[in-house]
Amino acid sequence: MGEVAIVRSEKKTGESNVELIKDRVRRGVRELQAYSVPHIDCRVKLDGNESPFTLPEEVLREVVSAASKIPYNRYPDPDAGSLRRQISKMVGFPPEGIVLGNGSDELIEMLLIAFSGGTGGVLIPVPTFSMYGIMARALELELIEVELDGDFDIDIDKTVETIESKDPDLIFLASPNNPTGNCFSKEKILKILDVSSGMVVVDEAYFDFSGLSVLPLLEKYPNLIVLRTMSKIGFASLRLGIALSGPELASELDKVRLPYNINSFTQACAEVVQKNPGFIAQNIQLIVRERDRLLRALSSMEGVEAFPSDANFVLIRVEDADGVWGGLVERGVLVRNFNSPGRLRNCLRVTAGAPEENDAFLAALKGVLSP
Ligand SMILES: Cc1ncc(COP(=O)(O)O)c(C=O)c1O
Repeated sequence: MGEVAIVRSEKKTGESNVELIKDRVRRGVRELQAYSVPHIDCRVKLDGNESPFTLPEEVLREVVSAASKIPYNRYPDPDAGSLRRQISKMVGFPPEGIVLGNGSDELIEMLLIAFSGGTGGVLIPVPTFSMYGIMARALELELIEVELDGDFDIDIDKTVETIESKDPDLIFLASPNNPTGNCFSKEKILKILDVSSGMVVVDEAYFDFSGLSVLPLLEKYPNLIVLRTMSKIGFASLRLGIALSGPELASELDKVRLPYNINSFTQACAEVVQKNPGFIAQNIQLIVRERDRLLRALSSMEGVEAFPSDANFVLIRVEDADGVWGGLVERGVLVRNFNSPGRLRNCLRVTAGAPEENDAFLAALKGVLSP
C-alpha cells in the first residue's frame, strides 16, 4: 500500500495556536458554554441533588472487603454481567434490556449518538435538565424546545403539534423534572408515546422520591426507554446509570457504549450496596419527609414562592435570587442558583438534606430575607 501524504496547512505568521485549534473544533462545540458547576466550599451543601447520607459502617466494611478482592491490574468485566443480572432481579426486568452507563449522563450521550439517524431532531420540554440540550448541541442535532405550561407540566397541544411537524428522533422527558421538581402527567406522556415514531426517553432519575414510573408501559411501547440512576439515593460517587428498554433498542445502544465504561470498583461496590436495600429505603423515606417539611416551611415564608415537588429538591422563587444566593453562601449554605431570563427568573433550587442541614438552610434564608 502506498504511503498517504498528509498535507498540513502551514501555520501563518502571527496566527496563534488558539486560532488554529478553533478551526478544528466542531461548530456545535465551539458555540457551547462549558458546563461548570461552581465548586464552593460551604458547611451545608444543598446544591447537587445528592443524598446527605453516606454508607452505614457495616455496609462500608463489606465494600472495603469487596474492594480488596478486585484485580486492579485487569480491565473490568466489560459487560458488568454480574451487576446487570443483580439489577435485573431487583427491578424485575430482563438483563437483555439493561444497558449501564457511567452515570445516566453517559447514557444520555449514547442515546443521542445512537438514535439520531432519522430527522436528527431532539425534542425537550423546557426548562429541564441541561445535559440533553448540551449534548444535542455538541453533536449538532436540531434541538427543539417546547415550553412547559403554567404548572410546569407538558404543554400537550404544542408538543403534539411539534412532534407531528418535526418528527423528532428523540424526546427526553425527565419525570420528576429537574429543576422544576414535578412529575409530568401520565396521560400526557401516554399521548406523546402514542403519536411519536422516534424514541421517547423517560428519565426517572428522581423516581425513588416519587414512586411513579412508566416502566410497565415498556411492554406496549417498543420506542420507550426508561433511565434510572444510583446518584440521587446515596451513590453519586459511583457514577452508575441504568437504561431499561426492549432488547432490540438495548443492543443498538450497547454498540456505542465504550468498553469498560463501568469500572471494577463501581461494579463491586454497587453489588454490595444493592444487597443491602434496607438502609437505602429508610434514607429515601427520610428524604421525602424532609422535602415535604421544607416545602411546608418555604410555602409559609413571606417573599418565597415554593413549587410542589415529587423529587428530592424544591424549586423556589424569590425577589432577588442572586442576592439571596450570595446571602446564603455568606451564611455557609450552598443552593443552586437558576436565575436566568424566562421561566426560571429569580429561581433557586434547594436539595432536601439531613434534618439539621434543612434547619440551617431555613434559618439562613430567614436571616437573608429579613435581616
Ligand atoms: C433529570 C436528570 N437526569 C440525569 C441526571 C444525571 O445523573 P447521573 O449522576 O446519573 O449522571 C441528572 C442529574 O442531576 C438529572 O437531574
